[in-house]
Amino acid sequence: MAQISAPKGTQDILPRDSGRWLQVENIIRELCAQYGFREIRTPVFEHTEVFVRGVGETTDVVTKEMYTFEDKGGRSVTLRPEGTAGIVRAFVENGLFNEALPTKLYYLIQCFRYEKPQKGRLREFHQFGVELFGAPDPITDATVISLPYRLFQKVGLRGISLELNSIGCKECRGKYREALISYFEKDQEKLCPTCRERLEKNPMRILDCKSEICREVAKDAPLITDYLCGDCEAHFTAVKDYLTTMGIEYKVNPRIVRGLDYYNRTVFEFVSDQIGAQGTVCGGGRYDGMTEQFGGAPQPGIGFAMGMERFMLVLEQAGVELPAERSCDLFLIPLGDNACKEAVKLTARLLDEGAKVQYDLLRRSVKAQMKYADKIGAACTAVLGDSELEEGTVTVKNMLNGNQEKIALSALNSKWLEEFIK
Ligand code: HAM
Repeated sequence: MAQISAPKGTQDILPRDSGRWLQVENIIRELCAQYGFREIRTPVFEHTEVFVRGVGETTDVVTKEMYTFEDKGGRSVTLRPEGTAGIVRAFVENGLFNEALPTKLYYLIQCFRYEKPQKGRLREFHQFGVELFGAPDPITDATVISLPYRLFQKVGLRGISLELNSIGCKECRGKYREALISYFEKDQEKLCPTCRERLEKNPMRILDCKSEICREVAKDAPLITDYLCGDCEAHFTAVKDYLTTMGIEYKVNPRIVRGLDYYNRTVFEFVSDQIGAQGTVCGGGRYDGMTEQFGGAPQPGIGFAMGMERFMLVLEQAGVELPAERSCDLFLIPLGDNACKEAVKLTARLLDEGAKVQYDLLRRSVKAQMKYADKIGAACTAVLGDSELEEGTVTVKNMLNGNQEKIALSALNSKWLEEFIK
């Protein structure tokens, strides 16, 4: 029968890579714990309304990129294109605001967007993100921004720059909207059909359009930073001051508007110039009005999400070596039925003691088993033959330095093994 390939824009994460993913995820989980963020897991699909309301009906994500379908009960559901909307829904629905504020949540999830696949852009991809609720002060914005910054530092990544902007509040954006409409109106017919529609509904979205022509038209568009009200200006200044106090370098980029509708005030992106056109590794910002859109009481919110595939690409590109985890402490090579039974017993004891132990399942020759042990990266091997069984001993070989030691089977335990590997 013909083979079936994975759907376009998806990728298998195979065992040769999943170890690296796991290491990065472990570093992320540790860092989140240090900051006091706790994990949240929400459904992979939500009522479509969650994203239409949350992300915004004029965004590219909602108009073009969602995997939306009717389930067997006739409800419209959507595979999450991002994490924030579902988490705000969960925050309101589960009354998390009744627990200690601020609420600090993090997630490592799969997301789905029907985009044109290219390097760093997939249809199924992974995000690491955090969402923080209940803290309006600018110290929060800088603290949230410091987390991905610290992550990059921790893994030894250089060359990722932080770009920062403020897109103000409803009041500032009202005036800005007027300015954008009068700017774009004169070149209306040059805009793509989607942007022509956006001109009336949400002109800021034009600034985010991926079409070359719309980008060209938008080149000299007014900048939001010229329209900030006094409060938003003060908030932005304070965020910048805190970042400076933290020793975090940034560049103000008034062109960052982000592709999702829920933001207000601070928005930011961490950008790499090492992985091609899709260089935004991480993006986020403040979204103070969002809980109300989900029927909740007002609660300020702020967060970010990092594209894991892009992060892994940057790490690879930069040649960052993460400390490799040992995959197997001891590979047992039993010869014959009695030896197999002894191997099974010994392995059970060592597994219970916490060691990583495997034995041959294919009854191969010693040579073939040795080769296999080498391929899986076993730190030690031990041949169990008749003479060893009679003596009640075993000779353990350290595959890393070639040392060998004969010890009583009863003395072989995980502690001894750990010492022997060192
Ligand atoms: P976003 O900018 O749409 O923001 O996505 C965040 C990150 O996800 C991007 O910077 C990129 O690294 C990665 N990403 C997005 N689309 C793709 C794709 N098709 N393939 C690979 N990677 C992709 C959000 O999703 C917001 N929810 C972030 C946020 C959280 N804001 C506040 N809280």
